[in-house]
Amino acid sequence: MSANTISINRQMAHFDGRDSVWLFGYGSIIFKADFPFIERRPAHILGWVRRFWQGSHDHRGTAEAPGRVVTLVPQPDALCCGMAYLITPQVFAHLDHREKNGYLRLVTEIHFGPEEKAEGLIYIASEENAAFAGPASEEEIARQIARAAGPSGPNSEYLLLLAQALRELGSDDAHVFEIEKHLLQLEREAAAERHTAAG
Ligand code: SIN
Repeated sequence: MSANTISINRQMAHFDGRDSVWLFGYGSIIFKADFPFIERRPAHILGWVRRFWQGSHDHRGTAEAPGRVVTLVPQPDALCCGMAYLITPQVFAHLDHREKNGYLRLVTEIHFGPEEKAEGLIYIASEENAAFAGPASEEEIARQIARAAGPSGPNSEYLLLLAQALRELGSDDAHVFEIEKHLLQLEREAAAERHTAAG
């Protein structure tokens, strides 16, 4: 599948005729809501885990040095925390453009608590997309993130803002926090080297 998913996403008719739709964000959509929304609520989805397995050469990296951003990977019994936004369908055009590097819209159940749920959608980058980077150790992922930057800014900023947002949501995401730990260590080492070089 091509890395550009805009035309595929435009064909989704599932929410046609609706005035509003719930969007579940699990990555940058949690900490960067650059779109209008009617309401925002912490939420979770079931059966998915967040992983830094999607390559980014358009936002947080370049073609020569791609960064890594999150996607979702199926895992039975898993629970993924994030932020749900009630949006109008007019917002899809902006989101399709923003998430164009391999992310497809997928209909899913969004849970607001043990008793309350709604049908909504997520943007997910599956392993079939051309930008998929796949699994690597948390340390390797941190090294790649430390090197990468793109039009949306340093890849490290994406990781650190996501980790902070997840803490605020009370989500204990071991994968994200382990990568953050390695990244901060790499930044400390780089600062110490600069200090030594400066004499
Ligand atoms: C999301 O945030 O829900 C999708 C992935 C991203 O844009 O970081």
